[in-house]
Amino acid sequence: MTYEYLTVETRDHIAVVTLNRPESMNALNRGLMTEIEQVSRSFLDEPEIRVVVFAGNGKHFSAGADLKERRSDTNDTMLVHRRSAGLGARMIRAILDINQVTICAIHGAALGGAACIATACDFRVGSRDCFVGYPEVNLGINLMWRSLPLCVRLIGPARAKRMIMLGQREPADTLLEWGFLDEVVEREALMDTAMEMATRYAAQPPIAVQMIKQSINAVSSAFDDAIMHMDTDQNMLTTMTEDRAEGIKAFFEKRDPDFKGN
Ligand code: COA
Repeated sequence: MTYEYLTVETRDHIAVVTLNRPESMNALNRGLMTEIEQVSRSFLDEPEIRVVVFAGNGKHFSAGADLKERRSDTNDTMLVHRRSAGLGARMIRAILDINQVTICAIHGAALGGAACIATACDFRVGSRDCFVGYPEVNLGINLMWRSLPLCVRLIGPARAKRMIMLGQREPADTLLEWGFLDEVVEREALMDTAMEMATRYAAQPPIAVQMIKQSINAVSSAFDDAIMHMDTDQNMLTTMTEDRAEGIKAFFEKRDPDFKGN
């Protein structure tokens, strides 16, 4: 399979998936999100692959949702709009459904949807210069893509509230202390460290490892769907607010937003 917005390299039971829109900070446009969903599903047919590493090409891992892309045609019906808004959740679901061990190698920014991708992986290695944040709230919207519980599980409710309600970026050392990152290394050592981790897991018996992964995910996420099934609808509500328009306008005007609760 060939991809427009990502590359896939495989060797020694390890696949490296690299987000490849460096000119746009690997912002998640619909094309890239669809390809991440497709490549994640493709590993179901790859028994030789035992570990999948996600990384980003260019200055940042990813700037999150593409704020320059028009999300849908204003003439679309609400039905079409709602289905279209579900793409991010489908992408995250596809990553969670990967049988193999997944590792995210983060450098520079991992914001919004990119943080969601990181939390959907089994492990996260960060470079010392990396930072993670959920800017959604400062754009007037909720955190969706079924990803809120993934963050809560990694760092606990109080820290998750701090990260997601303030939309602040947290640096690598804080993320390591909080358990969001499993390892922090120098930028130049990032991919080698991710590959070392991948090699350790690839040497384990794949059937047992994949069963353990699946069971731990099932135990820890049993209520996620019941709790989060309406986050796309919540997003559609927040997207219609004036605060949402103000959040986007303020980002492009490089100023603080002035939210009115409307
Ligand atoms: N969608 C679309 N374009 C984006 C983008 C995004 N999420 N993030 C950055 N860009 C664009 C910028 O508008 C800028 O474009 P320009 O050159 O046409 O002006 C370019 O990428 C470089 O951004 P810049 O801010 O100058 O780079 P930086 O390295 O200093 O900072 C980020 C990079 C990612 C930290 C910063 O751009 C940022 O905070 N982006 C917004 C993240 C966000 O809110 N994502 C949405 C999550 S819901």
